[in-house]
Amino acid sequence: MATEFFFTPIPDLPCPLGKFSKHPHRLPLFALPPLSVSSGNHRFKSVSTSKFKLSSSSSSPVNAVREEVIQTPNSDSQTIPPSSSKLVLVVGGSGGVGQLVVASLLSCNIKSRLLLRDPEKATSLFGEQDEETLQVYTGDTRNPKDLDPSIFEGVTHVICCTGTTAFPSKRWDGDNTPEKVDWAGVRNLVSALPSSIKRIVLVSSVGVTKFNELPWSIMNLFGVLKYKKMGEDFVRKSGLPFTIIRPGRLTDGPYTSYDLNTLLKATAGKRRAVLIGQGDKLVGEVSRLVVAEACIQALDIESTEGEVYEINSVEGEGPGSDTQKWKELFEAARSQ
Ligand SMILES: NC(=O)c1ccc[n+]([C@@H]2O[C@H](COP(=O)([O-])OP(=O)(O)OC[C@H]3O[C@@H](n4cnc5c(N)ncnc54)[C@H](OP(=O)(O)O)[C@@H]3O)[C@@H](O)[C@H]2O)c1
Repeated sequence: MATEFFFTPIPDLPCPLGKFSKHPHRLPLFALPPLSVSSGNHRFKSVSTSKFKLSSSSSSPVNAVREEVIQTPNSDSQTIPPSSSKLVLVVGGSGGVGQLVVASLLSCNIKSRLLLRDPEKATSLFGEQDEETLQVYTGDTRNPKDLDPSIFEGVTHVICCTGTTAFPSKRWDGDNTPEKVDWAGVRNLVSALPSSIKRIVLVSSVGVTKFNELPWSIMNLFGVLKYKKMGEDFVRKSGLPFTIIRPGRLTDGPYTSYDLNTLLKATAGKRRAVLIGQGDKLVGEVSRLVVAEACIQALDIESTEGEVYEINSVEGEGPGSDTQKWKELFEAARSQ
């Protein structure tokens, strides 16, 4: 298979954080009228179960995979699932994968806490939520002082999907470079986590072990793969129960990256099935929805603890949110 690059440097594109629309759709995402947010740590106040919908025309880029995800026996948009004892801290919840992680946690009635540089984004993305359901804290992972222990109080699981562009862009403003986000930020976050954490899932990238080899070395010109690998290694050595998910090039919305797939609004199309590998051998693309689902599934699948997986979208039927199917996919990757 031909290797294609993600992280193509492209001039500033608008970040479609408000990708959600009010068109009807079956994915049970929540969005409510914006809430005014003041500075400091934030908690959403009002209780509501209003359903929120992602943009939904059948031509919607995320539609095909989203429908695959939601057409499972476990997911019923009409029924609010029972509350879970988990409290999942999502770091990078305003990003493409992160938004889908948060939306999915909300739809499953799993308590979530966000650590965001700009808490206003939570309001515009996820609306007004019961503070029991969604709590928002302000912090920049580059600043250890921002990572106050109170942020982690009660947190049982962590999903970290922070990132920046591989090549210089507006996202690097204020020194928000791969070195600072993918290495220092991950190191700071992991160092601040209490040992009681049951699992940290880190979103990394395929190719991190081959950053000196072509074609990866081109993508790594500014060190993104090297720094992601350093972040991975820090997680691995932290002593915390971890799972690392390495996506191929990301497709489907929310289109937050500055790359060719964003320009082309690339979708997974018929590639609803999921291929999981180990050993950094996979090359290809993966839907952001699949990455988000993989992160959430990994929290509960015991056999994923201490493991590193590459993940791609391939043609065929997808596992949706069926935990048994995900378990089999993860286990198949290990036995290869
Ligand atoms: N694009 C690809 O094809 C590709 C391929 C393989 C792997 N990946 C990786 O997959 C992951 C998810 O990708 P994505 O496209 O969903 O990412 P994204 O949309 O770029 O989101 C990045 C997230 O990280 C947050 N962030 C950045 N710097 C931060 C900081 N200093 N402190 C706290 N939060 C910070 C951003 O918050 P703000 O809203 O404050 O900016 C945003 O929520 C990333 O790690 C990415 O590198 C991407």
